[in-house]
Amino acid sequence: MGAAVSVAAVVPAAGSGTRLGAGAPKAFVPLGGVPIVVRAVDGLLASGAVDEVLVAVPADLLDHARALLAGRPVTVLVGGGARTASVRLALDVLSGPHGCERPGGPAGDGPPEVVLVHDAARPLTPPALVAAVVAEVRAGHPAVVPALPLADTVKRVGVAAAVEATVDRSELRAAQTPQGFAWETLRAAYGKSGVDAVATDDAGLVERLGAPVVTVPGDPAAFKVTTPWDLRIAELLLEEKA
Ligand code: C5P
Repeated sequence: MGAAVSVAAVVPAAGSGTRLGAGAPKAFVPLGGVPIVVRAVDGLLASGAVDEVLVAVPADLLDHARALLAGRPVTVLVGGGARTASVRLALDVLSGPHGCERPGGPAGDGPPEVVLVHDAARPLTPPALVAAVVAEVRAGHPAVVPALPLADTVKRVGVAAAVEATVDRSELRAAQTPQGFAWETLRAAYGKSGVDAVATDDAGLVERLGAPVVTVPGDPAAFKVTTPWDLRIAELLLEEKA
C-alpha cells in the first residue's frame, strides 16, 4: 500500500456493444490487432497525467482483461448492468484501500484527488486531450467535459418519424470523454443518485447535483466506436498513422 494516488481514471468497459455486431463485447474487439480497451487505457497512461486506471469489464472476461492489461498500473473489476453501475463499482473500489495488479505499481490508501471517467469505446483519444482535462480540474474546476460543436442540423422527432422541432444548434455540444472531476464532486454526484440512476455520461449526474460543469474543446479523434462504420473509420485512421 502506498500514498494516495493523485489522478485515477475509471474506464467502463462492461458493455455488450451489440450495435457494433462484432461478436464480442465492444471493448474487446481488436482495432489494428489491439483490443479497443487496451488502446483506451494506453492512451490515458501515455498522457503522463494519470497515475492509476480502474477498468470495469464483463464478469466472464475478468481473467482475460487482467492478462491483456498486465504490466500496467491497472486494477480490473467486474462491471454492472449499466454504464452508471460500472462506474459506481469502480468508485467504490477507489474510495478505500486498494492495490494495483502491477507488482510495485501505485496503490491507493484512499481516494485520488482527481478522477477521470473515460469510455473504453474511445480508443483513439489523444493523450493531449486527457492532459488538458486533468489540467482544467487541477485549475479549480470541479467538473470538466470535452465537447464539440455539432455539424448537422438537429431535429426533435416524434411518433411516425414526424419532425416536431428544429433545435438551435448553436447552443448544443456533443460531450466526449475523458470527463474529469474533483473526487469529492463525482463521489457526491454518485452518492446522491440512486443505484438505479441512469445517465449517459457522468457530468449529467454532477449537473443534477447543481455543481458547475465546464467544457474544454473536444477532439474529433476522441469519437466513440459504436457502429461497424465507426470501427472502419478507426481502422483507417490507424493505417494512416502507421
Ligand atoms: O454503450 P455505450 O457505447 O454508450 O457505452 C459506453 C461505455 O460504457 C462503453 O465503454 C461500455 O463498455 C461501458 N459500459 C459499461 N457497463 C455497462 C454498459 C456500458 O461499462 N453495463
